[in-house]
Amino acid sequence: MQKNYGIKFIGIGTALPSKVVKNTDLEKLYDTTDEWIYQRTGIRERRVVEEGKESGFSLSTQAAKKALSMSGVSPADLDLIIVATATPDNLYPSMSCLLQGALGANSAIAYDLSAACSGFVYAVITAAQFIYCGTYKNILVVGLDIHSRFMDWSDRSVSILFGDGAGAVVLQSTLAASDEILGYSMQSQADSKSDLVLTNHNIFYPARNVKISPNFTKMNGKAIFEFGLKIIPETINKTLAPTSLKISDFDYLIPHQANKRIIDSAAKKLGFPNEKVISNIEKVGNTSAASIPLALKDAMDTKKIKVPCKMLWVGFGAGLTWGTVAVNWNLKL
Ligand code: ACO
Repeated sequence: MQKNYGIKFIGIGTALPSKVVKNTDLEKLYDTTDEWIYQRTGIRERRVVEEGKESGFSLSTQAAKKALSMSGVSPADLDLIIVATATPDNLYPSMSCLLQGALGANSAIAYDLSAACSGFVYAVITAAQFIYCGTYKNILVVGLDIHSRFMDWSDRSVSILFGDGAGAVVLQSTLAASDEILGYSMQSQADSKSDLVLTNHNIFYPARNVKISPNFTKMNGKAIFEFGLKIIPETINKTLAPTSLKISDFDYLIPHQANKRIIDSAAKKLGFPNEKVISNIEKVGNTSAASIPLALKDAMDTKKIKVPCKMLWVGFGAGLTWGTVAVNWNLKL
């Protein structure tokens, strides 16, 4: 597309609930072990909201405030807020409108975007379009998910994986020649076999006087494993094909933190050395739309990455949805 402007990342912020649930805590819920979970997933612990104390609203507000403070952009100067989430606190109002109110971002347009674990990548690409064509200057993107509310905590095949969290970035328009997004692509395909599903039938429908028995996140683990492994190399190759860049030009790969075994196998397939693959899944589990900004900020905090650098962000998840953003990252703490 014709780009009239470029994108600059000027702020990042994250938030996690304070309650830690370790694998050893799950040993008390069902027949499992810390070692089994760690070997199969790379996860040792995850964070879970405490109802009444924390929520999607509180986490996204904390993450957004930190990102805005780093960016130096006043909430009043935000043009657009996109919250990527598949697990909002309410069906409506949207998380983004609630966040707009909390921030006092009175000039912004606010809407949510639902693309499950690809949500952050989809939202950054969506925000970029508004900047490229010159419609907006300052955009806040938040990845947020609170999966703990939708877990069957007696199902050992799924509840071992997920954690709660939020991550935010601020994008600002700059000269087209200085664009920090080096390439992107997104794709979707109907999950015809229902390999990863969360319905909202676990609510009481007062108008119909119907109460349907609870539904929780349902996953065909093997199918999702194969899906992740297949699409990570494919989406990266699709993203880089129209550019002059090669995989070896990138310093870091930050895949959606679904599962360490998927990440490691995909990196091996791509020939990406382990030290260049960013992962914090051990400490936070799979935080869905929040996982890429949480892994990125953790890598910045722990000095795992040297800035400036080139990175590949790869999202994949329910829908099915997937996509990549290739980034020239210049933001220092
Ligand atoms: N602890 C101990 N044993 C377990 C557990 C557990 N938590 N869960 C399952 N098992 C048992 C099973 O009952 C089975 O026992 P059996 O052989 O006696 O029947 C055995 O372990 C093997 O079960 P599998 O389901 O074949 O286990 P698998 O090796 O496939 O591992 C896992 C399961 C970890 C879910 C794996 O399929 C996986 O990693 N899938 C990827 C899914 C994923 O990462 N999703 C992320 C969320 S979606 C997203 O972000 C896009």
